[in-house]
Amino acid sequence: MFRFQNVTYKDIINIKSLTIPSKKIVCITGESGGGKTTLLKLLNKMISPDSGEIFYLDEPLEELDAISLRRKVIMLPQNPAIYNGTVKDNLLIGLKFSEKAMESDDKLFISLQSARLNKKLDDSVDNLSGGEKQRLALARVLLLNPDVFLLDEPSASLDEETEKIIIENLVAQCKQNAKSIIMVTHSNKIATTYSDLIIRIDKGKVVNEEAMI
Ligand SMILES: Nc1ncnc2c1ncn2[C@@H]1O[C@H](COP(=O)(O)OP(=O)(O)OP(=O)(O)O)[C@@H](O)[C@H]1O
Ligand SMILES: [Mg+2]
Repeated sequence: MFRFQNVTYKDIINIKSLTIPSKKIVCITGESGGGKTTLLKLLNKMISPDSGEIFYLDEPLEELDAISLRRKVIMLPQNPAIYNGTVKDNLLIGLKFSEKAMESDDKLFISLQSARLNKKLDDSVDNLSGGEKQRLALARVLLLNPDVFLLDEPSASLDEETEKIIIENLVAQCKQNAKSIIMVTHSNKIATTYSDLIIRIDKGKVVNEEAMI
């Protein structure tokens, strides 16, 4: 689905060759500062390589319109923005930014359930904990229904039990709907339990690729 050819970005990324398959759960692991977030940003054209080429479904990213790409390839950042207002405001803003049609309250509520966030749509976001904010941001991304989810440590501020429930549900939904997940995780357990492929990044290079059977 994504293919890298001699890609460099500043002195942060230097990937000669990498293929990321579609409709799979792919985990990116590696030490802090190794370039994992930068790699995800390259995939939805938030940044562009200084040299080399990245292909998405055999088309060079540089020839694809960034806005239309970002409707299909959506990133949940490591520190997602939460806006003042209600839970509902925060769900709808994702649809608005992506220029997608608004959804019914029922649909919004289902996205909260998928992210295991037990809040009402008209609750204020003021008092949400860090982990609840992260789940709200996940619900916002789920609602956008992308083909490819780029998830940057989506469960970093969750306890192990909640993390397990959410990732399990996410993986099941993706398998069912033939979606792709590319997820950065510090958790070896998550990577080995759920992924089809683990890509390890160190100092901007791919140091290991392990297909899980
Ligand atoms: N725009 C930028 N300009 C210069 N350096 C940058 C830029 N973005 C990131 N870096 C640096 O590039 C390196 C890789 O950053 P990146 O955020 O991709 O790491 P990471 O693997 O996601 O780390 P973590 O696990 O801590 O999130 C870091 O040393 C970071 O300081
Ligand atoms: Mg990071």
